[in-house]
Amino acid sequence: MSQLSQRPADPVVGERHHHESAFGHVTGTALYTDDLVGRLTGVLHAFPVQSTTAHGRLGAIDIEPAYAVPGVVKVITAADIPGVNDQGVKHDEPMLPVDEIMFFGQPLAWVLAEDLEAAREGAAAVTAEVEELPSLVTVRDAIAADSYHGKPLSIDKGEVDSAFADAAHVFEGEFEFAGQEHFYLETQACLAHVDENEQVFIQSSTQHPTETQDIVSHVLGVPAHEVTVQCLRMGGGFGGKEMQPHGFAALAALGAKLTGRPVRLRLDRTRDITMTGKRHGFHSSWKIGFTEEGKILALDATLTADGGWSLDLSEPVLTRAMCHIDNAYWVPNIRVTGRIAKCNKTSQTAFRGFGGPQGMLVMEDIIGRVAPQLGLSARELRRRNFYAQGQDTPYYQPVRHPERIGACWDQLISQSDLEAREAEIEAFNLSHEHIKRGLAITPVKFGISFNLTSFNQGGALVLVYKDGSVLVTHGGTEMGQGLHQKMLQVAATTLGVPLSTVRLAPTRTDKVPNTSATAASSGSDLNGGAVKNACDQILDRLRQVAAGILGAPAHEVEISRGIVSALSSAKTVTWEELINTAYFQRIQLSASGFYRTEGLHWNLSQMRGEPFKYFSYGAAVSEVEVNRFDGSYTLRRVDIVHDVGDSLSPLLDLGQIEGGFIQGAGWLTLEDLRWDESDKPSRGRLATQAASTYKIPSFSEVPEVFNVAFLDKAHEEGAVYGSKAVGEPPLMLAFSVREALREAVGAFARPGHSVDLASPATPEAVFWAIEEARGQDSGAAASAREGQRVPS
Ligand code: MTE
Ligand code: MOS
Repeated sequence: MSQLSQRPADPVVGERHHHESAFGHVTGTALYTDDLVGRLTGVLHAFPVQSTTAHGRLGAIDIEPAYAVPGVVKVITAADIPGVNDQGVKHDEPMLPVDEIMFFGQPLAWVLAEDLEAAREGAAAVTAEVEELPSLVTVRDAIAADSYHGKPLSIDKGEVDSAFADAAHVFEGEFEFAGQEHFYLETQACLAHVDENEQVFIQSSTQHPTETQDIVSHVLGVPAHEVTVQCLRMGGGFGGKEMQPHGFAALAALGAKLTGRPVRLRLDRTRDITMTGKRHGFHSSWKIGFTEEGKILALDATLTADGGWSLDLSEPVLTRAMCHIDNAYWVPNIRVTGRIAKCNKTSQTAFRGFGGPQGMLVMEDIIGRVAPQLGLSARELRRRNFYAQGQDTPYYQPVRHPERIGACWDQLISQSDLEAREAEIEAFNLSHEHIKRGLAITPVKFGISFNLTSFNQGGALVLVYKDGSVLVTHGGTEMGQGLHQKMLQVAATTLGVPLSTVRLAPTRTDKVPNTSATAASSGSDLNGGAVKNACDQILDRLRQVAAGILGAPAHEVEISRGIVSALSSAKTVTWEELINTAYFQRIQLSASGFYRTEGLHWNLSQMRGEPFKYFSYGAAVSEVEVNRFDGSYTLRRVDIVHDVGDSLSPLLDLGQIEGGFIQGAGWLTLEDLRWDESDKPSRGRLATQAASTYKIPSFSEVPEVFNVAFLDKAHEEGAVYGSKAVGEPPLMLAFSVREALREAVGAFARPGHSVDLASPATPEAVFWAIEEARGQDSGAAASAREGQRVPS
């Protein structure tokens, strides 16, 4: 076993601990960025002037009326930016517009005032000359207008055309599905002030402090060492704080520079939802060929991501979508073309799964639709196409441990009592005319690492103080996923001290530089590797000191739970005694750690390489009941088997699986983003701007029976203490809910009927699918359906 993945005897990793801030979360004592406002004096509050048109030519902005509002201190426009007017990494995203307005709700200027009410009033007083331009609102609009960001990407493997000629069955279709709002509980927030000597200090709710620092420094036109970014914790990020916080942080920092006073910027829910990017909706057209036995022979698909007005992270999101269209299935001949539609909406961004869910959804939708036409159950069709040993992905990466797909599947079938329940459901459906039940099982295979090889590095700083207490800082950020808790457990395990000896300090760019976003689920892989590396350095030094005290060779020294011993010595000393001795011997008791994932490579222009360290696997069974009269449904029972390797912290992994699954179910069934597609002046306005119109899952959507198990014997060689990433993959287990709905709808039809289901599969969408299944889809119903985003 490698040094990285091998666990010592009696490790702290693997123990069930709650989140390090759990008590703070529930008692309200855990602070978030905006809670820190009260610790500063003379704080100014920021409020945006938002565009009321989707696309327009921007003329003069009249800011003078704002200054007539008592309390207004400063109005910031593009003209105030001393450095580069850009909040992205692609240089296509002006922080404040100069001549072109790109979406409804875009900030045109910001008002800083003594209190929020004055800032809001000031913003309302600002006027702008705008000449309206034609706008593209939907992905279909953009496709029709040939409006794209950059060039298409493509995957091309095998002999696609001849494979179609050989195929026994060929199907074609289209599928358009919606994006998703992050709806993190804590909206975007930051707090900036200028310290002594022009040092800019920003507290930001950001998943990527280093990139926030980079953007602030180029907007201000100062070197990175003049800017420090700290992230205490986030009240949820879900990818929505990977790129989106940068512009807000830069604005607050600029305001602080211009006024010499601290600036607080926190968006209210409506500002947040109308200004920030979301999960990309996609359009796809596809053609698939099968052998006589139901094995996939070829796939030809075009994926068009609805990118919004600027690139943001759309390219890597699209890349991951394309690299996940296979999900758990071997596709020997494959062609995938990927495009990013450019239209007048918020700039869509990272969201849990980062495009992976969208690519996989296309495949799962295809399988759900064609299984009846192949005369097979969807369960059997899925099983027949799982990867086997020796097969590789569409981008030529060998699939390591493909047998774990089948292992999750088989463990789940037995644990969920699946076969008996299928029979019960069949009997139930025969005896019920107006309500039907459906059950589906779907697999997940998800690649772990950033596609872009250079991002796969992590850093940490470990300090041991003279009294033996340990302080850990690492490059990752805490957003509720429990990364900090896992890092505490890793540090305690490596140093051999009790958990209570180790404390974690907030993430800061002046402690650990040049970090990657806490994203791609790789937070614990990368930072865990770095924390372990720093602890190992200190440990190596301490072993020499201990050897002297115990009179034993250094390689025999064991430190566990704060007790230092050696096989050939009768003596033991405590951790504290060891540290005290080491200090007096002038031994360095701190270290900065580093980790990079070895063996990765990726060629974007050829879409080829080994971008992932390993794959994460899982499977889920969902059972639903639907009502034909209104399409309403309930999620009766969910069973999951998921592969987390040797869990670093089982309670946290369980929480990630449950939370990810429910968030995925929300995306696929409930959450319905609607933009105004009319030709009225409100065209392009997001109609679902608040919790009243945008429904996210709540307690009542959680299934009554919800069983989650980890895959047995799942040690991951070469990852920190044998563990696996867990943050994103469980979201895609929710495909089982959508497929269960499809099964239930299909139960209303004659056998062999292919059910075409919209996404999100809201009760409305399910109602129309049932109407169609029952063969009662009248002309009126069909045209009503057109307005309901039902595909093809
Ligand atoms: N869990 C909670 N509670 N809150 C979050 O914001 N973000 C998810 C996932 N789980 C998120 C979460 C996303 S999008 C990612 S990429 C991972 O956590 C990031 O953290 P990790 O790399 O430490 O798993
Ligand atoms: Mo997660 S979408 O990679 O922040």
